[in-house]
Amino acid sequence: MDHGATTRPDPEVISAMLPYFNDLFGNASSLHTFGREAKDALNRSHEKVARLLGAGPEEIIFTSGGTESDNLAIKGIAYLKKNKGKHIIASVIEHPAVLNTCMYLEEAGYRVTYIPVDEMGLVNPGDVEAAITDDTILISIMHANNEIGTIQPISEISRIAHERDVLVHTDAVQSIGKISTTIAELGVDLLSISAHKIHGPKGVGALYVNKGIKLESLVHGGGHEMGKRSGTENIPGIVGLAKAIELSEQRLDKDARYLTGLRDTMISKITNGISNCYLSGHPTKRLPNNVNMRFSFVEGESIMLMLDTKGVAVSTGSACSSGSLEPSHVLTALNIPPVEIHGNLRITLGRENTMEEVDYVVENLVEIVDKLRAISPLA
Ligand SMILES: Cc1ncc(COP(=O)(O)O)c(C=O)c1O
Repeated sequence: MDHGATTRPDPEVISAMLPYFNDLFGNASSLHTFGREAKDALNRSHEKVARLLGAGPEEIIFTSGGTESDNLAIKGIAYLKKNKGKHIIASVIEHPAVLNTCMYLEEAGYRVTYIPVDEMGLVNPGDVEAAITDDTILISIMHANNEIGTIQPISEISRIAHERDVLVHTDAVQSIGKISTTIAELGVDLLSISAHKIHGPKGVGALYVNKGIKLESLVHGGGHEMGKRSGTENIPGIVGLAKAIELSEQRLDKDARYLTGLRDTMISKITNGISNCYLSGHPTKRLPNNVNMRFSFVEGESIMLMLDTKGVAVSTGSACSSGSLEPSHVLTALNIPPVEIHGNLRITLGRENTMEEVDYVVENLVEIVDKLRAISPLA
């Protein structure tokens, strides 16, 4: 129940990857047969990922994951356009891969406007429009948030940005495979993907870059990936990403319907079974697999650890910030008081979960919250 952190690689993904660890181990830059086989796999992978987005194969750059894709998009545009302007717009609830990249650029002399969100976690496109200045070069707003699952109005933001000649990047790491992410619909110029959130392998991702856009490379070397990301390509990983994308494309509607059913049942059973608990994020503009609840008077961390003893994996806030005592920057941005943020739990469902598992988690959750409240001075 922690698919927002990572997912089990699909058996079909593993089968697709295995030959490229064994006999098909060639370097895609070699001109002999071994190399050509690897190159063919690379080309096919470009095509598969491009197809999901409705993009061209030459518009996909393979990277080491969502974090690198975000870095490449933001720094790549910032460095390229530094003579046009040095202003970037992002939302306050971006993933650290975006936020920390923006903060790094601020230290290097760029200016970043962080757009607030409303209490459901939504960015107001009017706020984005008002923040655009003559030296704005890029807007980076995530498609769906990793903690609360809120889905942003990206197409409207893209329309506003393009009217002012500003490029748009979106981090679609959490939305790929769960909701539609075609470029035609979103209208973005750059889009980040990661394989391990969609039943693919870890350490591989992709960045879509509109073919009309040049991008300053961050990794210099042999000129791989159209000169935008050097380094011998991770063919098994790339083949795994492409397979995971292909599967998620085939299953998109079915999975979304299934997950929405599990999600809504879980939310209603939790709210019916436990008093003083609240859903964080938007009730409907929300990823089909995201349940983010807060339980008054108890610590989310204690709930998480007690669920773990029952064989249930969930997270508090996001996996990236668990272990830190800082209240989640996302929940803070929703104006939720810190004492309530500590009672937060994120459950992110996956296609392997069943309704029986949902019932099992809810039953245990009811008991655990009861027990914790019995010893909580706040309760
Ligand atoms: C929204 C979002 N962006 C970026 C990342 C980073 O992706 P990766 O783990 O592939 O570096 C994550 C991972 O948690 C994420 O949820």
